[in-house]
Amino acid sequence: MLDTAKPYRSVLYMPGSKERALEKATTLATDAIIFDLEDAVAADEKANARALVAASLTSRDYGRRGLMVRINGFDTPWAMDDLAAICDVAPEAILLPKVNAASDIARLADILDQRPACAATGIWAMMETPMGILNAAEIAAAPRMRGMVLGTNDLVKDLGARHTEGRAEVMTSLSLCLLAARAYGLVCVDGVYNKFQDTETLRTLCEQARDMGFDGKTLIHPAQIDVTNEVFAPSKADITLANRQIAAFDEAEAKGLGIAVLDGNIVENLHVASARKLLAKVEAIRAIAG
Ligand code: COA
Ligand code: MG
Repeated sequence: MLDTAKPYRSVLYMPGSKERALEKATTLATDAIIFDLEDAVAADEKANARALVAASLTSRDYGRRGLMVRINGFDTPWAMDDLAAICDVAPEAILLPKVNAASDIARLADILDQRPACAATGIWAMMETPMGILNAAEIAAAPRMRGMVLGTNDLVKDLGARHTEGRAEVMTSLSLCLLAARAYGLVCVDGVYNKFQDTETLRTLCEQARDMGFDGKTLIHPAQIDVTNEVFAPSKADITLANRQIAAFDEAEAKGLGIAVLDGNIVENLHVASARKLLAKVEAIRAIAG
């Protein structure tokens, strides 16, 4: 189920073959890290990356950051060797690329079931193929599932679409994944923005994803972290409003009323639940920073 004790605002991809990046990530303010063995690693670097990531997870201190390893898909010659190396260090989660159906997740879950070290390891799914998007609900319901990551570059490629400013080309896919993730209590993280030096456009994209309901965004470069953390964190105004809504509702309840009115808006149970969730997120962000 959703780990509300942890934020996933910024989720940074890190090429598993780059020792410097593996070291640097211990000091970056990213909420979570994806140690990548798949697309960021060239074929002749796969074995090296596997060993570097396993060693890094054993010996380096990444604090409370979420840690997941993206393995190569089962349709490649590398997946089983990736799992053999990574299962020993039991990351928080394994991110499986190009998931098409619940059976892909079940296959990985069966392998993890046979590794006692991985008893607590969850599975995250890359949602990046047309078939995967159409099967989002059954994928979200599969065993060990904890999160979904949108792979919008692969999706745009497979759709034969183009990246546009408002992202109309992926909007249905984003929404289907969000619906599936929320229906099953999973984390849901948006795809990357390729122009990593353009932080102003990144801000707009983060705002769009936040307003849709995403927990955060996947990133490719450290320069993208600060803006992303800021946009996905509750603002001071959000926090003030949440506290006022809770106080107004408590006051109404004390008078035997089920609904409060604050600044001309009604405050019901559901608003109080959202306000409490928001304050819990603030606590989670504080915990990861300190
Ligand atoms: N994670 C951790 N550290 C990273 C990083 C990442 N994703 N990307 C860059 N850095 C580090 C560099 O090691 C460098 O550190 P240093 O200056 O302390 O030595 C610093 O950030 C600045 O890097 P910079 O020179 O601006 O970038 P670059 O030219 O070395 O690399 C990319 C640019 C895009 C190739 C690189 O950011 C990258 O490989 N990103 C991840 C891509 C990926 O994983 N794709 C697959 C999923 S879409
Ligand atoms: Mg991909």
